[in-house]
Amino acid sequence: MIRGMTRLANQCGAINLSQGFPDFDPPEPVLKAAERAARVGPHQYAVTWGAPNFRAAIASKQSRFMRLPLDPDENIVVTCGSTEAMMVAMMTACNPGDKVVIFSPFYENYAADAILCGAEPIHITLHPPDFCFDPAELRRAFEQRPKALVLCNPSNPSGKVFTRAELLTMANLAEEFDTFVLTDEVYEHIVYAPHEHTYFASLPGMFERTICCSSLSKTYSMTGWRLGYVIASPSVINEARKVHDFLTVGAAAPLQEAAVTALQLPDSYYKELQDLYTQKRAMFLQYLDEAGLKYTQPDGAYYVMIDISEFGWKSDVGFCEWLAREVGVAAVPGSSFFHEPVNHLIRLHFAKRAETLSAAGERLLMVREKAKACSV
Ligand SMILES: Cc1ncc(COP(=O)(O)O)c(C=O)c1O
Repeated sequence: MIRGMTRLANQCGAINLSQGFPDFDPPEPVLKAAERAARVGPHQYAVTWGAPNFRAAIASKQSRFMRLPLDPDENIVVTCGSTEAMMVAMMTACNPGDKVVIFSPFYENYAADAILCGAEPIHITLHPPDFCFDPAELRRAFEQRPKALVLCNPSNPSGKVFTRAELLTMANLAEEFDTFVLTDEVYEHIVYAPHEHTYFASLPGMFERTICCSSLSKTYSMTGWRLGYVIASPSVINEARKVHDFLTVGAAAPLQEAAVTALQLPDSYYKELQDLYTQKRAMFLQYLDEAGLKYTQPDGAYYVMIDISEFGWKSDVGFCEWLAREVGVAAVPGSSFFHEPVNHLIRLHFAKRAETLSAAGERLLMVREKAKACSV
């Protein structure tokens, strides 16, 4: 559905706030490094589980942020984005017939990943508008002896940043029921103050049971480079390497070479990134306020869920098609993220240049008027 909305946006010339990717480039030094890599190479396969210098750069940067001593040879597999990392994690942890706990709403790949593994999702509701879970419901899910829990933190689509207390509830259950936790932390550096990101693997005793997935896509505005990684204990990594080898052989060698420069950026880069997205969030939410739209303010990531109940559409898919064609802004229907029959929400993202956000914002200011003019 997400990629389908991008196609619709292209067809009808809508401003695409559906699929989450920036319309600005990676940092300049990284572009220079890519030019160099195009000339100098490497142009042939890298080591299957990642070029040694790229793994060393990941280990150095992630050890610093995760506050864990990571070894490039023992703890890391490089993948084609977090998308592949999550599939590797799922296939490493689960066998056909196993159960996997997935919060709902969820990034739409997770249920598909579980099904492709022959595993069965158990969905736990994150209740809008604050997207909190009921610990008793989560315990009942663990009592069904799942092999893994999938945790997207900060979360797409809800923008939720799980608190340390919520993460400890999950950690205690994972320990009690001997379960893996598969984390998707692609938005680890896009968190709005006063909220802070806690790496699940850094919680006491959790490194051994966490399969941490992330990527360079969002942090360095390079979703097209398809560079990600799995971080886990040596015994898990040993299995993950085999799965990855047969899935994709490896990520693009010249891009791994160039992306070392991204991973070596100073800590000030991450602070500036956070400031940039804080400004974008403020700018976009102001338009939504002016347009009189109801939404949940995201604490992390770059999405916002908007409540469209007042427009009276029976289908959020129909609403999004109308929005793209008649208002000129492409969104994702909320139902594509929920296991439950929820169709009063849509998702927009604000990872766009200020000009794009103001053009989209101006169009959204007309949404009420245009809705009145058309009979639904
Ligand atoms: C939660 C989440 N995980 C993974 C991805 C895809 O990441 P990658 O480009 O690293 O495959 C996205 C992209 O929107 C996402 O929102």
